[in-house]
Amino acid sequence: MALLLSLVTLCCFLGSTQGQLIEGFYSSTCPNAEQIVSSVVREAVSSDRNIAAVLLRLHFHDCFVQGCDGSILIDGSTAEKHAFGHQGVGGFEIIERAKTRLETVCQGVVSCADIMAMAARDAIAVSNGPVYAVSTGRRDGRVSNISFASDMPEVGESIQSFKDKFRQKGLSEKDLVVLNAAHTIGTTACFFMTERLYNFRGSGSADPTINPTFLPELKAKCPQNGDVNVRLPIDRGSENKFDSQVLKNIRDGFAVLQSDASLYTDEETKRVIDSYFGFLSTIIGPFFERDFVESMVKMGNIGVKTGSEGEIRRVCGAFN
Ligand code: HEM
Ligand SMILES: *[C@@H]1O[C@H](CO)[C@@H](O)[C@H](O)[C@H]1NC(C)=O
Repeated sequence: MALLLSLVTLCCFLGSTQGQLIEGFYSSTCPNAEQIVSSVVREAVSSDRNIAAVLLRLHFHDCFVQGCDGSILIDGSTAEKHAFGHQGVGGFEIIERAKTRLETVCQGVVSCADIMAMAARDAIAVSNGPVYAVSTGRRDGRVSNISFASDMPEVGESIQSFKDKFRQKGLSEKDLVVLNAAHTIGTTACFFMTERLYNFRGSGSADPTINPTFLPELKAKCPQNGDVNVRLPIDRGSENKFDSQVLKNIRDGFAVLQSDASLYTDEETKRVIDSYFGFLSTIIGPFFERDFVESMVKMGNIGVKTGSEGEIRRVCGAFN
């Protein structure tokens, strides 16, 4: 009876800690894990600077489908990575490279989901963004289905739809704004600009929120019926600096993505943007970098699998 009781207690205790990540989860089982991931990220970024943005985006796309569980990494024609909503997402080979190195020193220990969370953190750091401790202990999921990514936020959706989709993941309007400020680094393909520049919401013309001095510049970079694979920085004039300029650009009509521009068309999200540029905000806050870290940590906790859920994959592109 006593044994049964303690088993019940143990099970409930474990139950209550499910979904909990901790800092330094690998400190005894794979002490060099963070260092290995960080050096792989640094090497990759030094040969291609934009890899930092690619890795940051990859973590977001992983977390928004079935939680941060590595489901996006699985290969195969019906796997999630081929979903339309993941168009342009990359960085898979960098994560696999880190995994391969980790397997040689501590086999079967570090999850692919954690590698992505660490890589996103390192990508932000190498871009001179805020440095933070990433909590780990995520386990890899056993499901990857192309039809489960149909809910990814897409560039042409309404602000209400973005608010709803973030809310569904436990993220607030503030998180929505702050996380979209990840667009402070990285690029977009002209593919995502066509509607905004030439047929905004079916109007036959450009998004009226684009600053008139900026519109010709955008159209020159992405001409109508031009090459949709041409890429342009998302944070105009500040694409190499990880900072809140992207929010200022959105405020001033210099947003590149339609989804970013929409953040200034809604009272709630507009207020969040303006809060970073208030009269005394540099002294009393809110502070963009601190808030960004807070929202990244929240995003990195979405639907995580811990304890005995899921698995630790041997390779990131396939289930065990
Ligand atoms: C409403 C939500 C969002 C929408 C609609 C959206 C849309 C997009 C689009 C269309 C691109 C261009 C992709 C390409 O051409 O390859 C992009 C790039 C990017 N996104 Fe987002 N995004 C959203 C939220 C986020 C969040 C939450 C993060 C990370 C926290 C993020 C990080 C990035 C980064 C870093 C890039 C640059 C990627 C590169 O340079 O290859 N985005 N996003
Ligand atoms: C993917 O999900 C859909 C919808 O739930 C289901 O019908 C389909 O069988 C799944 N595909 C695989 C390969 O599991």
